Amino acid sequence: MIYVLLSNFILMKRRTFLDFLMKGAAASILPLHLVGCDDPNVLSKYKGLLPMRTDQLNLIEGVSMQILLKRGDEFGKQLFFGSNNDYTAMLPMSPNRYMLWVNHEYLNPLFVHKKFVSAEKTKKEVEIEMKEVGGSLIEIERLDSGELKVVQDSIYNRKIDGLTSIPFANQINILDQDSALGTLANCAGGKTPWGTFLTCEENYDGFYGERDYKTGNRIPSEHYGWENHFDCPPEHYGWVVEINPKSGEAQKLTALGRCAHECATVFQLEDGRCVVYTGDDANDEHLYKFISKRPNDLSEGTLYVANLELNLWIPIDIEKQDILKANFSNQLEVLIRLREAAKLVGATPLDRPEDIEIDPITGHVLIALTNNKPKGNFMGSILKLISDDNNHESLSFSHETFLAGGEETGFACPDNLVFDQKGNLWFTTDISGSAIGSEPYKAFGNNALFVVPRFGERAGEILRIASAPMDAELTGVSFVPDSNELLVCVQHPGEESKDLDNLTSNWPEGKKGVVPKSAVVILSGEFFDDLWSISMR
Ligand code: FEO
Ligand code: CA
Ligand code: CA
Ligand code: CA
Repeated sequence: MIYVLLSNFILMKRRTFLDFLMKGAAASILPLHLVGCDDPNVLSKYKGLLPMRTDQLNLIEGVSMQILLKRGDEFGKQLFFGSNNDYTAMLPMSPNRYMLWVNHEYLNPLFVHKKFVSAEKTKKEVEIEMKEVGGSLIEIERLDSGELKVVQDSIYNRKIDGLTSIPFANQINILDQDSALGTLANCAGGKTPWGTFLTCEENYDGFYGERDYKTGNRIPSEHYGWENHFDCPPEHYGWVVEINPKSGEAQKLTALGRCAHECATVFQLEDGRCVVYTGDDANDEHLYKFISKRPNDLSEGTLYVANLELNLWIPIDIEKQDILKANFSNQLEVLIRLREAAKLVGATPLDRPEDIEIDPITGHVLIALTNNKPKGNFMGSILKLISDDNNHESLSFSHETFLAGGEETGFACPDNLVFDQKGNLWFTTDISGSAIGSEPYKAFGNNALFVVPRFGERAGEILRIASAPMDAELTGVSFVPDSNELLVCVQHPGEESKDLDNLTSNWPEGKKGVVPKSAVVILSGEFFDDLWSISMR
């Protein structure tokens, strides 16, 4: 494997960095330790994993794991941890307590019902499925031993699932209703500076279908057929949802538009208003940015879409765009039919924009572009977007490819990203379960977690840290606040299983015949300590 040194990424001069901090250009910068033990060779003893195909969560030496929660675990009275965990985020509540939010993106009917169930299922079966999606709110305690543990029966533990009534922000009505039944397809998300979680409804059409706006006809759902028992319009899904961690109150933020939202990454401006970056994860869909009207409130603002030919953010505002006026009757209709509106104003088609993170040192925005198979892009890349004047409010920018997937770099199909407090970039890959192990992905083995050290002798290398069990994807990477423990989700192990007698994975129990389970895992250990001991000189 040829390792790649990254431009604009390593060994930023200390003076430049301090200038940057003093300009306040990075209000969300995390407290970096400018003085450390600084042995630039401290990582020399570590060897990245090679691609592999095993039914285990394999880790490099110096990293250990603890399973925090897996599907079906009870974390309160009649509260069972849902399926296919994706985004995770933790907020500190008191010195040894945190609130953890975990997305449950979708479910595998074979594992949930323990039998093959077609889309022609009973209402009871649909209700069981509705409890498997959405998200879980869980209080976590740090014990004196240092271990993190679920607080069983915490008053804050709850689920926001497919059966929870969730209002639209600002009392907006969609198809004469001011609330939606449930949240679903919750992929990635974000955190706000005022201590709420954001969860993003991605492939919502799999549950209640979609609308064909040319004919007005309903397109049935491909996978789950929930519309056969619950009369919920597709327009109630595909939003970013804000969750209060303590009260569990939720609202659907219509101002951010409706699409297959992957994530919602927030940057707070000096005056308290927020910029939110979000991608629409489908072939040739788009990258959006929202600027809120008021501080600490995402219910109103202006939505923009990226045009990478012009390097401009284009407003998707019916008052500013005659072409939108000609095609839609009001701004709510524009927001509901966001994909159409974006194309009318000149949005650039992208290769499945997934997770987005803001580099805590440079302020640059990184966007995972997973792939675009119809266009022949199988490997994907990470795009870097640099706002003019390093100002996230700016409507102009420049961009370049930050890292390209492929055999030279050793990864394919980047998806989830996270920066740690030191500015090291961590990312996971999402080669689809059906494609893992066959061309053109054979050389990459199972999906994996990678880190790109920022400082020291190995800066810019792409190290494979963890390798996922069979068919699984690693998702939900986030750091425990003020700690170098990394939360990672193992999502959809064994998803290629055709029936219960032919399971392709038995993770995590590892016993033949036992149904695989998605789980939230905490990674920690000496590797993290060593990585974090290297700092800027
Ligand atoms: Fe749910 Fe785009 O991954
Ligand atoms: Ca994803
Ligand atoms: Ca992320
Ligand atoms: Ca994905």
